[in-house]
Amino acid sequence: MDVYGLIGNPVDHSLSPPMHEAGYERLGVDARYVTFEPPKGEGAAAVESATRLGVAGLNVTIPFKQDVLAAVEPDALATRIGAVNTVDFSTDPPTGYNTDATGLVRAFEHHDVSPAGQAVVVGAGGAGRAATVGLATEGMTVAVANRTVDKAESLAATLRTSQADGPMDVQGYGLDMLADLVPDADVLVNATSVGMEEDRSPVPPGALHGDLTVLDAVYTPLETRLLRDARDAGARTIDGAWMLLYQGVEAFERWTGQDAPVGAMNEALRTRL
Ligand code: ATR
Repeated sequence: MDVYGLIGNPVDHSLSPPMHEAGYERLGVDARYVTFEPPKGEGAAAVESATRLGVAGLNVTIPFKQDVLAAVEPDALATRIGAVNTVDFSTDPPTGYNTDATGLVRAFEHHDVSPAGQAVVVGAGGAGRAATVGLATEGMTVAVANRTVDKAESLAATLRTSQADGPMDVQGYGLDMLADLVPDADVLVNATSVGMEEDRSPVPPGALHGDLTVLDAVYTPLETRLLRDARDAGARTIDGAWMLLYQGVEAFERWTGQDAPVGAMNEALRTRL
């Protein structure tokens, strides 16, 4: 039996175990998916311990996504993002991936939205970095807007001057620029925590429009104020469970080498949300 899991702190309410185990069950994979809660600052040590214990794969969540870089060989995308959310122990050293970025792109593709043209990413924290790099890697022009403007500007500057795979077309802004940026955008991603368990949106509703696709990474609640405003403006909407699903699907496929049973994993997730 293979053991997969998640390290995070806290991990109590994670939906990854039922999502992954629904996939194993559907494909007849002999595996379990469990959660581990190492103390803060022990992410790299936890990965090293998991290597010795013969764990087959780990997902990584807050606050360990940067820490584990010290214990893995990150691929080009994870290096560029500066964070790892998936570790594959079939290599030595283990390989670190960032399926938040690739999962976001697959969530768009699932809805027949090709990531092309102009994107606005709201938020320059961990999720914002992954979204920005994921969309820019697809060739999109990305405007990243953040409450703390310096963070957006320095992320954009780093990606513009990066030599790996060529510079990316990314600019940084404050949230006050959203009213100007969103009317020209094809795709909008909320990668802040605004809207989580509160009825607030980070985007002025008047800027939303019918040619836009809006993905909100927040999934509690599934229907956020931003998504309601977007629907009212005639935009296409994608809720946060799709990003959660596809980061898991990408990890599942890296680990098992098989196409993930997306429908079964999605059902397991949505029945719990
Ligand atoms: P995650 O890994 O989930 O992205 P994070 O790295 O802590 O978490 O980033 C949280 C993001 O939400 C940041 O972009 C943060 O903005 P700051 O960089 O200015 O802190 C954003 N955020 C959190 N609360 C916010 C609020 N009330 N209004 C606007 N942005 C907010």
